[in-house]
Amino acid sequence: MTILVTGGAGFIGSHTIVALQQAGYRVVVLDNLCNSTAAVLDAVAKITSVKPDFVQGDIRNAATLATLFDAYKITAVLHFAGLKAVGESTQKPLAYYDNNVHGSAQLFGAMQQAGVKTLVFSSSATVYGDPQHLPLAEDHPRSAANPYGHTKLVVEDMLENLYHSEAGWRMARLRYFNPVGAHPSGLIGEAPQGVPNNLMPYVAQVATGRRPKVQVYGNDYNTPDGTGVRDYIHVMDLAQGHVQALKYCLQVEQELLTVNLGTGKAYSVLDMIHAFEQASGKTIPYDLVARRPGDIAACWADTALAYQKLGWRAEKGIQEMCNDAWRWETRS
Ligand code: NAD
Ligand code: UD1
Repeated sequence: MTILVTGGAGFIGSHTIVALQQAGYRVVVLDNLCNSTAAVLDAVAKITSVKPDFVQGDIRNAATLATLFDAYKITAVLHFAGLKAVGESTQKPLAYYDNNVHGSAQLFGAMQQAGVKTLVFSSSATVYGDPQHLPLAEDHPRSAANPYGHTKLVVEDMLENLYHSEAGWRMARLRYFNPVGAHPSGLIGEAPQGVPNNLMPYVAQVATGRRPKVQVYGNDYNTPDGTGVRDYIHVMDLAQGHVQALKYCLQVEQELLTVNLGTGKAYSVLDMIHAFEQASGKTIPYDLVARRPGDIAACWADTALAYQKLGWRAEKGIQEMCNDAWRWETRS
């Protein structure tokens, strides 16, 4: 079976390709390389001994999509392509709606045209907004605090509308918590351009000496040590969650499934810094500074539905996440 992976040269897509190939699927990647390089696919090939087919192109381009669906007999689509920087989305909202919403509509239209009705979509725990209660189960009310979050809400709704418009769609909307870490080989990992927005890539760059200190955003939250608490998930666990979601979709007649991919465990910013100190053997200096606007105190997943529906649960802990991230960060 050939699986189309949009955004497959990116962080989560590339790790998922490894898991897909190791599960026996053939992969074709569509990526415009706006936040990645094609070299990552060579690194994937080093791990799996199989190079995925690659089409450099944009999900917003209907002609590219039509040619691709003509050229390959695609069984299902895993849709990762999109923009993901929350801060940037407040400055360039139209770019986010264009890429994430219009791009997704183009892709789903091309799938419909080609009769491909099996889809796994990258949603986010950001759709829960500020949690009313924890852990977050899938039926928690949704809201969005920024344009990026809105685009995820809109695409989730678009899929629901599409699902009800005709029979035969098999869709999984996967809500990721905080993906971190890297493949244990150290050959692929997260490579943010410029200053990292997210905690763990920033911590990793402080550990290597590329940046002087971590700014810890707030130590006055109502959490055990006052710093923000999140559900960090190893990217290889996340990748395996996609394989399970794909397998699930392929064996049902039709379904719109929405599941959290998290660990259900909660760690603070300081917990993560300390785990990274262990992994790297380095002291990681930090300053306690003001809260980052828009941040929530705490967020972690109810993982019961993912286990019930997909038989999947995350297996790797924060030390493994940090060890693997460090191996990637210190690659030669
Ligand atoms: P990433 O930026 O590393 O990967 C996205 C890939 O999509 C990149 O390779 C980029 O070049 C490509 N791309 C972007 N726009 C495109 C377009 N119009 N056409 C073709 N290719 C395009 O991001 P990631 O962390 O791997 O995230 C993948 C998906 O998961 C995104 O949809 C993101 O919103 C979602 N997500 C990510 C996180 C996270 O923390 N990383 C959390 C929740 C959800
Ligand atoms: C961010 C996004 C969210 C997205 C998620 C996926 C924002 C506001 N939210 O969530 O939409 O779904 O990534 O991974 O960007 N922190 C520091 N110092 C730093 C960076 C972060 O102290 O330099 C803290 C934050 O305050 C937070 C924790 O570390 O408590 C995690 O932050 P981050 O990695 O940016 O993820 P989220 O804010 O959870």
